[in-house]
Amino acid sequence: MKGLILSGGKGTRLYPLTYTRAKQLIPVANKPILFRVIEAIRDAGITDIGIVVGDTAEEIKATVGRGNRWGVRITYIHQPQPLGLAHAVKVSRDYLGDEPFVMFLGDNVIQGGITELVRQFQESDWNAQIVLTRVDHPEQYGVAVLNGEGRVVRLIEKPKEPPSDLALVGIYMFDHHIHQAVDEIQPSWRGELEITDAIQWLVEHDYKVFPYIHRGWWIDTGKPGDMLEANSMVLQELTPVIEGFVDRDSEVDCRVTVEKGAEIINSVVRGPTIIGERSRIVNSYIGPFTSIYHDVVVENSEIERSIVLENSVIRDLPARLQDSLIGRNVVLTRSPMKPKAFKMNLGDYSQVGVL
Ligand code: G1P
Repeated sequence: MKGLILSGGKGTRLYPLTYTRAKQLIPVANKPILFRVIEAIRDAGITDIGIVVGDTAEEIKATVGRGNRWGVRITYIHQPQPLGLAHAVKVSRDYLGDEPFVMFLGDNVIQGGITELVRQFQESDWNAQIVLTRVDHPEQYGVAVLNGEGRVVRLIEKPKEPPSDLALVGIYMFDHHIHQAVDEIQPSWRGELEITDAIQWLVEHDYKVFPYIHRGWWIDTGKPGDMLEANSMVLQELTPVIEGFVDRDSEVDCRVTVEKGAEIINSVVRGPTIIGERSRIVNSYIGPFTSIYHDVVVENSEIERSIVLENSVIRDLPARLQDSLIGRNVVLTRSPMKPKAFKMNLGDYSQVGVL
């Protein structure tokens, strides 16, 4: 069995962060989402993994490499344009051959991994198995309808009037019949070859499509709010370790991870929180559900439920920073210069909420 991770796409809803970085490489609890996906597939016993890449191919290749560090073999597959999930399967035809595979969207974070799903599919004679979960707004997803025996009888992509609350999570198991399905379907109204339509084609041609109902949390990290939510969820599952330095004047609770070379000086840190390698927290409060990545400086400031990426500096803030996503090399500080005003130098599509 092979793994196929889809990691193309532009991540427009995460601008400006994704102007300069692939969204799958944004860290959640200090580890890129794509690394978490690779680990989930590896933990299910699959070591041959294809990653479909697009515009951000170079950055992804440079960061992920050949897979040695996870004990897997990674092959990159180029998708010239983001023309849909079924199109990604099409361009992977040579790589996949006739082997069954698990397809995983590279920006999805799921609780508990996929080991049980992969085992179930391997032991079955099903042609496809799709992961479903109950959601409050099914109209935002692909939606499935099951019959009395629990078999999938219908699938619709983002229906205006959802026939059920069972949404397609971005994880799918397929055998080789999917290749015929992706060749038969036509682009949807949004101009994409939808994997949902390809699975519907399998259903209509009497192939066996069964669900796997996922009961834990699952987050598709499309928007900034989703990133913060995923960060909170993953932080709660980390096993805390203190490998950095915490001085005697600081208060760090038992749900805090302090990575190597990090320093906490005269500060209060409440978990679940992670402070990344070589970061310095001085005279500050870092509240729960916060991930501070590598080489960050926080001084005389308060931060809660936020993600701060590498090399940023946050200093002397007059109020608490909360529910925020701060990119790399950002400087956020109080200016002593007159006039007393907000002075900003923001990238396109930045969003700032002031007091
Ligand atoms: C895609 C799929 C959809 C699925 C969703 C899960 O949607 O088309 O069926 O529910 O991923 O994240 P997209 O993110 O392309 O809008």
